[in-house]
Amino acid sequence: MIDEAATRERMRALADRGDYAAALAEYAGLELRLAADPGVKPERETRRLFDELRRHAPPPLGAGRLRLVELEGDHTDAERAELHDGEVNAFESLDLGLVWRDHDRRIVIVDRGRMIACAGLVVAPAQAGDERFDVVGFGGVIVTHARRGEGLARKVLEAALERAATLGPTRGLLFCRPDRAGLYAKLGFEHVHAPVNAGQPSGQRADMPLDTMWRPLRDGATWPDGDVVVPGLPF
Ligand SMILES: CC(C)(COP(=O)(O)OP(=O)(O)OC[C@H]1O[C@@H](n2cnc3c(N)ncnc32)[C@H](O)[C@@H]1OP(=O)(O)O)[C@@H](O)C(=O)NCCC(=O)NCCS
Repeated sequence: MIDEAATRERMRALADRGDYAAALAEYAGLELRLAADPGVKPERETRRLFDELRRHAPPPLGAGRLRLVELEGDHTDAERAELHDGEVNAFESLDLGLVWRDHDRRIVIVDRGRMIACAGLVVAPAQAGDERFDVVGFGGVIVTHARRGEGLARKVLEAALERAATLGPTRGLLFCRPDRAGLYAKLGFEHVHAPVNAGQPSGQRADMPLDTMWRPLRDGATWPDGDVVVPGLPF
């Protein structure tokens, strides 16, 4: 049984001493403990306290020294561990049982040598209706849990969009949980409402259970009507 009232007390006491970093870490620890139970989130009062403390906290150490970097290929296990920082199932996608494609490259934000945000990019074939074309797939978008709400997802996605526009395809495509769609809508992605089907290992196919969103990477690009097929693994 997790005593959230006690957690709030500790958060307040730490903030009163000016130790906002420790107060916010208390919250991150609570989220981690709750994550063992799918669907359970901190209570509203705790989230409100967290938001209040975050507004009052001084900029995190290293703020202003963030570097945007492009890395080839997908994460190594060590890079993934650094980014997820102990958070299990950050994408809340483990229950879907899907196999995902590796990314060709990643746009990442590094703070004093530590990777704190990422957006993966992959050029992949797709079909919508009768039209076959390549898309730039966006995936693996994550901000390390202690740094969420600072605008880092926007920053890394804006850089990824800029890079995507240089890769050839005129359309970007991504799959996301419905409760993350608002983030992408703010960056110009729109929902694809047609059914979507993607490849899985050993020639299997899977209907996409997540929201599908697309975005033009060049002026004038439109999304064709009709069912969508991603021949390879989703991203
Ligand atoms: C989703 C996630 C990447 C957002 O990162 P973040 O750094 O907190 O987001 P930002 O602070 O850059 O938010 C950018 C904007 O999107 C909005 N936004 C962020 N998450 C949102 C969400 N889930 N729904 C709607 N809007 C959202 C913010 O309010 C902000 O709006 P503003 O620019 O108008 O102020 C982060 O919560 C995360 O890593 N989650 C776990 C992994 C995950 O779910 N990744 C997405 C997989 S599809």
